[in-house]
Amino acid sequence: MNFDVEYIRRQFPALNRTINGHPAAYLDGPGGTQVPQRVIDKVVEYLVQHNANAGGVFATSIENDAILLNARQAFADFFGCSWEEVSFSQNSTTINFMLAQALVRDLSPGDEIIITDIDHEANRGPWQILKDRGIKILSVGVDTQNCIIDMADYQGKLSQKTKIVAINYASNATGTISDVKTMIQMAHENGAITVVDAVHYALHGAIDVKDIDTDFLFCSAYKFFGPHVGILYAKKDKMSGLRTLKVKAMADVCPYKFETGTLNQEGIAGAAEAVEFIADAGSKYENEFNEDLDGLQGRRRKIVAGMLSFERYERPISDYFKRELGSLSKLKVYSPPSGNPKTSTISFTVEGVSPVKVAEQLAQKGIFVWDGDFYAAEMIKSLNLEESGGLVRVGLTPYNTVEEIDRTLEVVSRLVS
Ligand SMILES: Cc1ncc(COP(=O)(O)O)c(C=O)c1O
Repeated sequence: MNFDVEYIRRQFPALNRTINGHPAAYLDGPGGTQVPQRVIDKVVEYLVQHNANAGGVFATSIENDAILLNARQAFADFFGCSWEEVSFSQNSTTINFMLAQALVRDLSPGDEIIITDIDHEANRGPWQILKDRGIKILSVGVDTQNCIIDMADYQGKLSQKTKIVAINYASNATGTISDVKTMIQMAHENGAITVVDAVHYALHGAIDVKDIDTDFLFCSAYKFFGPHVGILYAKKDKMSGLRTLKVKAMADVCPYKFETGTLNQEGIAGAAEAVEFIADAGSKYENEFNEDLDGLQGRRRKIVAGMLSFERYERPISDYFKRELGSLSKLKVYSPPSGNPKTSTISFTVEGVSPVKVAEQLAQKGIFVWDGDFYAAEMIKSLNLEESGGLVRVGLTPYNTVEEIDRTLEVVSRLVS
């Protein structure tokens, strides 16, 4: 596949920035991506032309309602579900706290919830506080040699007492993609409800909620070219039965019953345009992925093609980066072994140089990377990196280039020598 990276890059005005005379290299994508002009334009267009609260009979309110419905339909195509299964919120952490507080209303003391050590705190904290209500929280460990979930531990913790399983699709610390489909099937066999954190995964792979069969899944548009908005997929029968945290005036109807107060409507308009950006990229490569797109039509087909094209473009650059890092002495890469599914995110440590120091050296050259625990605090603790400042994390997106990776390697090589 001949991926047209310049076509993508031209759409991101932020890429024109320079730092100390160097072009800015945004390798901080797992913390939040840059935004294409078409998304910025949609946010501005909303505020200039359609700004109104929902449910009125006048022009701007009617337009606002149409924009929100269109956004639900865009995310229905993004997830592979119906628009009535798409709710919006502030961000993923807020979604999960709200979900946990709603689900706990139907739990009893002694019931168990399974979380994992590979998860971001956004998919641990909201469940852990339910300990106050007598709920038992069990956390699945990680195989630290391979940076993957310990499936035997998961199997061992599951039982008829398990009421909720909250798991991670892809680790924002090591890029590990977990076998959520199998984990969800195992949870359902025990009668448990499943919640998937797809925040890191959403930038790197097409989501098919019906295929993995999860009950709930959430992600955040700012991680895939959109504004700061959280999106929840909820299986319709599960949301219908949920006693959400809502005021009486709000209809007890999907998908609105999960949404509190007035939404970030301009942000949602922009988030829907981020989906269109992915679909537009995909429309160039649909023919290359005919086999993978079998049975898919319209915007859903283009979105999946877009995600596949990003993955196909990023994978060789990520493999190259990992190989080159692996050849440097005093450097340790934390990543699942080859053959294990993973995103293009690569994390590492340099012996004798703290992660923040590495990030600072890169920042001097206009290369933006994250250091620390990225709120995947339990994973960092399991890897025994808590005291030494965590990891250096380099994330690839479709607007990054192999030249940016070479610039990164140059700085890191100098540091280790
Ligand atoms: C895997 C993962 N889950 C959850 C979150 C939290 O997302 P939000 O900032 O939208 O609450 C993040 C943010 O970095 C993340 O990477």
